[in-house]
Amino acid sequence: MKISINNKELEAFVGETLIEVARREGFFIPSLCYSKEAKHKSSCMVCAVKNCATGQIIPSCTTLPTEGMQIDSESPDVILTRTLSLELLLSDHRADCDAPCKVACPGDFDVAMMNRLYDQGKWRDALALLRDTLVIPATLCYICNAPCEKICRKGDVNRSVSIREIKKELVLKTELNKISKPESNGKRIAVLGSNPAGLAAAYHLRKWGYDVDLFERESSVLIPYIHTEQLPATILELELAVIEKMGVKIIHLAEYPAINDYEGVVAVVHENPNPQWLADFI
Ligand code: SF4
Ligand code: FES
Repeated sequence: MKISINNKELEAFVGETLIEVARREGFFIPSLCYSKEAKHKSSCMVCAVKNCATGQIIPSCTTLPTEGMQIDSESPDVILTRTLSLELLLSDHRADCDAPCKVACPGDFDVAMMNRLYDQGKWRDALALLRDTLVIPATLCYICNAPCEKICRKGDVNRSVSIREIKKELVLKTELNKISKPESNGKRIAVLGSNPAGLAAAYHLRKWGYDVDLFERESSVLIPYIHTEQLPATILELELAVIEKMGVKIIHLAEYPAINDYEGVVAVVHENPNPQWLADFI
């Protein structure tokens, strides 16, 4: 079919969008969200052009030409639309500059960085990043419903990155024999409760040099706080072994702590803490 762009008559083939015709013919039209390989919905409007017959501004990346269409791609109002669209995007673009998987992760984990390191074969660095952010990453993989995978942009092209599988694979590479105890700064901290937050507090305090005693009134660690049906015991054991190897001492209620022995106390209690237990301690 015949159309014109900026008064130049040209041929458009069936199935081509306006931007494809224009670019084939050497006209420059910018684009942002457009990708020939991906399923596409126009959203950024950076590729705006004007339909001269109606005066309407339209996205060239998704509009199919019709016979006799006259397109303007360079007048001031077209350029202004593109500029305003870009400014609007830049005013609220958090999930575009930060990878959506990171934004979606409740643990604020830098999934994209892990994937990059993994892809480069730097699995120790990827594992260190994983451990330092999520502390019990493989456990979380089993109990998290993975909003990161649901929002993964690769899903628009074919299938999402299997983020949880990568994390599980990395955790299974943990070299327990290479984990050393960070040097002590001589100060003791008590952490109350072995839920994920308690374990994270214990891990990071130990990394910063504090001697950490982690108190748990139940006979097992973490288990009382999560649904464990889908969590292999070996995974949990491995992750707890890392924390213990670093020197965190896990103490069940029988060994009641004396508050004066500690520089500080981190109480990470769950929804229904035993008030007497807390009162006795504090
Ligand atoms: S599986 Fe959950 S915890 Fe892990 S990166 Fe994805 S959203 Fe974060
Ligand atoms: S390139 Fe984003 S709407 Fe066309």
